[in-house]
Amino acid sequence: MSGTSLDGVDGVLLECGTSPAAFKVHAAASADLPDALRQALLSLNQSGPDELHRAAVAASQLAELYAEVVAQLLQRSGLAAAQIRAIGAHGQTVRHRPPRDGEPWPYTLQINQPAQLAERTGINVVADFRSRDIAAGGQGAPLVPAFHQRLFGHAGQSVLVLNLGGMANITALPANGAVYGLDSGPGNVLLDLWCQRHTGAWFDRDGAWAASGREQPELLAHLLVEPYFLQRGIKSTGRDLFHAGWLDERLRGFAGLPPADVQATLACLTARSVALAVQGIAWGGAGPQQVWVCGGGSRNAHLMRLLAAELPQAQVQASDEAGWPAQWVEAAAFAWLALQTLEGKPGNLPSVTGARGSRVLGAIYPA
Ligand SMILES: Nc1ncnc2c1ncn2[C@@H]1O[C@H](COP(=O)(O)OP(=O)(O)OP(=O)(O)O)[C@@H](O)[C@H]1O
Ligand SMILES: [Mg+2]
Repeated sequence: MSGTSLDGVDGVLLECGTSPAAFKVHAAASADLPDALRQALLSLNQSGPDELHRAAVAASQLAELYAEVVAQLLQRSGLAAAQIRAIGAHGQTVRHRPPRDGEPWPYTLQINQPAQLAERTGINVVADFRSRDIAAGGQGAPLVPAFHQRLFGHAGQSVLVLNLGGMANITALPANGAVYGLDSGPGNVLLDLWCQRHTGAWFDRDGAWAASGREQPELLAHLLVEPYFLQRGIKSTGRDLFHAGWLDERLRGFAGLPPADVQATLACLTARSVALAVQGIAWGGAGPQQVWVCGGGSRNAHLMRLLAAELPQAQVQASDEAGWPAQWVEAAAFAWLALQTLEGKPGNLPSVTGARGSRVLGAIYPA
């Protein structure tokens, strides 16, 4: 898995049993994105000259990095390529234009080179998970709720799973057994961007910089005017909406603010937009009792405190406390989705993506 934050690649070697308790991670490995590739992928999020060529080259370089992570997983687990059924390789999202008003040709685009990955590893590769859901009228996202439900669903309890990646996506598991999921908006992406611009650090470690600033209520209110936050029901988003231009446009008129105050306010924006999304869910009673947070944002102690304050009725904890290290969950989800594909089983949830029905996702590149 390599997500919108562009921090790196996370891999897990997952054994899928028949019950959730039978999921077992045999090894985990990560690789940082080299700076040049990170810049190349970032610039591919917007149109520019020669982008077909640049996308093809970046895809091959990314596939090489995926292959390195796979090699590490095999080494750490002591398993051979022949013992692995498939690699689920999501690819790097560079465009996400799901169906919405005025979008006559919706699409989502993940840069990837699955053929090369199959060639390099000798393992079946499953890729392109999102396009079939879009073809069926869905958002193509989020695809992780079915897996979140298996890992964290708890009969009789209302549970929220929150993935804080570049974007923030929630899976709502009300006690009545329903499943809802959506992208609430930015997770780390704006925090990372602002931090890189003003401190040179890639991210705000533990949220210490945000914690040193003061939340600016007027700016927060102005940021929350974005229609995406007010939209109820099925929705998904990406860097197409929440990018540097979006932030700069909204910061006009707030030029005198200390950068740390802006960072503090952006952290509040992530927490508040999650809370707004949670309030929009039909919980069939009070909101969630338990919140499991996964993704890199769960390491941001300041953000975790803000979330706990926004969701006072719930116990907010990193997914590590449930036995699932926060960095593993999304990668494990795509391993499980790859298995669903191989077994001809659906991976999407129409109640989440809005697709016309459940679909077998992905394309298989045999070893
Ligand atoms: N110690 C930390 N303190 C604060 N933030 C952290 C810390 N560790 C990681 N992060 C944040 O987590 C981000 C990476 O998270 P993650 O890998 O889950 O996101 P992603 O790659 O966008 O994933 P996806 O899109 O699949 O959800 C970093 O860019 C950073 O913002
Ligand atoms: Mg990541």
